[in-house]
Amino acid sequence: MTTPNPSKNPLRSGLIEDRTGDACAVVIFGASGDLTRRKLMPALYNLAVGRALPGGFAVVGVARREKSHDAFRSEMKDGVGQFSRRKPIDPAVWGDFERGISYVRGSFEDPQTYADLKGHLDQLDVERGTRGNRLFYLAVPPSEFDTIAGGLREAKLVRAKEADGAWTRVVFEKPFGEDLASCRALNETIASVFDESQVYRIDHYLGKETVQNLLVFRFANSLFEPIWNRQHVDHVQITVAEDIGIEGRGKFYEQTGVTRDVVQNHLMQLLSLVAMEPPISLAADAVRDEKVKVLRSLRPMERSQVPMNVIRGQYGRGFVRAEELPGYREEPDVAPDSKVETYVAMRMHVDNWRWSGVPFFVRAGKRMARRVTEIAVQFNKVPHTLFRAPDGGITPNVLALRIQPDEGIQLRFTSKEPGQQTILRDVAMDFRYGTSFGSNTPEAYERLLLDAMRGEATLFTRRDEVEQQWQYIDRVFDAWKHEASAPPPTYASGSWGPDQADDLIARDGRRWRKP
Ligand code: BG6
Repeated sequence: MTTPNPSKNPLRSGLIEDRTGDACAVVIFGASGDLTRRKLMPALYNLAVGRALPGGFAVVGVARREKSHDAFRSEMKDGVGQFSRRKPIDPAVWGDFERGISYVRGSFEDPQTYADLKGHLDQLDVERGTRGNRLFYLAVPPSEFDTIAGGLREAKLVRAKEADGAWTRVVFEKPFGEDLASCRALNETIASVFDESQVYRIDHYLGKETVQNLLVFRFANSLFEPIWNRQHVDHVQITVAEDIGIEGRGKFYEQTGVTRDVVQNHLMQLLSLVAMEPPISLAADAVRDEKVKVLRSLRPMERSQVPMNVIRGQYGRGFVRAEELPGYREEPDVAPDSKVETYVAMRMHVDNWRWSGVPFFVRAGKRMARRVTEIAVQFNKVPHTLFRAPDGGITPNVLALRIQPDEGIQLRFTSKEPGQQTILRDVAMDFRYGTSFGSNTPEAYERLLLDAMRGEATLFTRRDEVEQQWQYIDRVFDAWKHEASAPPPTYASGSWGPDQADDLIARDGRRWRKP
């Protein structure tokens, strides 16, 4: 086993997994998909390595293809070998873990699939001690949610909330609808089968260590909270930049675009966590209530305001790490005259007591210069300058919370350069996760799967939350639908987005950070 002993370093003691899930069977619909191989199985395996899986545990894959239990196990082993954060696979842990893996073949439309699944799960209760607890994981496109939820209900695989001491929970993957209407329809269907307390809507950003740390940073330190408001903050920037393109997902992206793919969910979750009021506790509803309040405070944009506040872009050809790459329209399955956006920048306002008048500039894009997700809080300028700084002034303080990569927190401030003259320099204080805690931190899916097994919903999105996110974004789509049909401006692959995005922030007398 290659895992270092965390107890040797007291700073790493927080990484020891001291929570275990309830006995249960995890049932993955869409078991032959990429998500299962790349994320879910490696996450479950890593929970096994951390001894966080319950004694009574089984994982059942459900998909259309004919496959033996052994063939499924060996596919999953390949996936874990390739994508687990811990390599190589520990044969002893895998041996144990794999005994709990099995496969049920069937189409999602066929009632027989659910009857077979029910029989199989009953048997697992006896053989593996899963105690009637079921975690259904829908790793399938949203068009299948309806069918699977109905199939589960008809086969009586959904127990009423905590009936007979056993539970049923269901995890839904994003995208959760494509606009407010489809999201509401989906929520209606789900509500007809499950109680909201049984529903776990995943936004994997919430499972990231650094995103969870936002709450700790804000509410376990007394230094920052008193200045976390309009009196001290000039503006906030949130960047979700990726250097990859659409990675062969042309069909999906043509339907989606970056606003639906990243802004409506991941980026708005980051914004809620930065802007929310302290919750009364960390209980799921206490935290989610505060996040919903932020979303409800977002200033809705009138159609006419969208062009001034939202900039779209589409990547063209360009160089990323010295490699010349094709433009979006040259990607497979993308229309040669596609108008789909791969970049968006927005100016948003949280109209409440704390944030009134503080703009939030957010941007998300594919094929940008670098992969970086960060939240930067820029504080006000000093009210009066005492120093004749040769470079024209003092740089305002910035607190940058780096979500990924190089996870950490950086505070920038002005300092005097050593020497006879008073020369001012912008310098940084840096906290790096890697240095303090080591780099082998749990993946988002490990945290989220374990939370779902334990019935902890704080890091999952509630119904009103996801609807509120769509409500805001829908107005942008509505304006785009009515705009003259010009394609979005092109930006070179490997750049920081279109010039128009620089103009958006410059109009407010600010500039984007180059993270
Ligand atoms: C997914 C999007 O939800 O998030 C992808 O569908 C995107 O397009 C991904 O690449 C980004 O996640 P991460 O964890 O790599 O930042």
